[in-house]
Amino acid sequence: KDQPLVLGVESTCDETGIALVRGHELLVDRTASSMDQHARYGGIIPEIASRAHLESFLPALEDALATAGVELSEIDAIACSAGPGLIGSLTVGNCGAKTLASALGKPLYGVNHVVGHLAVDQLVDGPFPDRFIGLIVSGGHSNLLLVNDIATDIVELGGTLDDAAGEAFDKVGRLLGLPYPGGPHVDRHGQAGRCDAIKFPRGLSAPKYQEKHRYDFSFSGLKTSVARYIEGLNQQGMELPVDDICASFSEAVNDSLTAKTVQACLDHDIDTIVIGGGFSANSRLRELLSERAAAAGLTVRMPPLRYCTDNGAQIAALGANLVAAGVEPSDWGFSPDSSMP
Ligand code: KG4
Ligand code: ZN
Repeated sequence: KDQPLVLGVESTCDETGIALVRGHELLVDRTASSMDQHARYGGIIPEIASRAHLESFLPALEDALATAGVELSEIDAIACSAGPGLIGSLTVGNCGAKTLASALGKPLYGVNHVVGHLAVDQLVDGPFPDRFIGLIVSGGHSNLLLVNDIATDIVELGGTLDDAAGEAFDKVGRLLGLPYPGGPHVDRHGQAGRCDAIKFPRGLSAPKYQEKHRYDFSFSGLKTSVARYIEGLNQQGMELPVDDICASFSEAVNDSLTAKTVQACLDHDIDTIVIGGGFSANSRLRELLSERAAAAGLTVRMPPLRYCTDNGAQIAALGANLVAAGVEPSDWGFSPDSSMP
């Protein structure tokens, strides 16, 4: 009870998330998704997403407060995703958060959505160690971070030079005619296939990349290689071994992600890895990272699947870190930043 009560507002893409946390304790987490409205277009339609945020914001807020048995006046601070994301979606959530903060006279923190994907892990696995390596993998991002302090000191070691891991999965899903978003479908098919059936390339793994791109990823060459393989079989009128393609493709992506994450720990003498983002739900990533980390004597913290995709809890959790670290609240005039680094 002596810890501040923080309200988190998430609205970067198609999920309206509202959550309340006290310290590392999650009181309630409500998510309203507009994904069903986008699926038939094969991608997110920003205008539809913004309108859905407008419709969902107050009902989600009222539901969250009622479920937690909390009055608005009890909230000590408000955090909202300030970017990166769709500008219309961000604007709706930020306006809602600013209005609440202004009416209640409470501090407002515009936070980085992507960092929130790591922060949420504290609600499940407790306080972070002093330093850790963060792997954030989603539909828009694939980043390797050295986290000295989640509130104040994060160093970006590397990231993808082209497609994000989830994006690559979604594109391969499309090539195979699977429903959008393809990531979870490719994952499921891959579980039934052989990961060594087809030899696909590992981007930026050659020795010549060990200096400049030691912690970077590249998945577009791999995606092209999958497209060529599919084309080749189609031209010969052969049936596609969908499960084997998914398993072999997934292996190539996850081989790069896990090898470089473990390498980053060894290079920096760090013994803990935290993963986050929608793609961290991927079954092969979890399996391979657990294996390789254990072999190297490292601990991996993996939030449960419901906290991997976008949610309000990740924003409230990061807000609580900023409050605890004594970071200054955001200036009232701040604007959402769709391409926040
Ligand atoms: O973090 P998120 O909810 O949204 C952002 O992109 O910020 O991540 C969604 C991405 C999509 O590309 C989706 O296909 C992918 O995560 N994804 C998966 C799995 N679950 C979600 N990709 C592979 N395997 C999964 N199990
Ligand atoms: Zn996200």
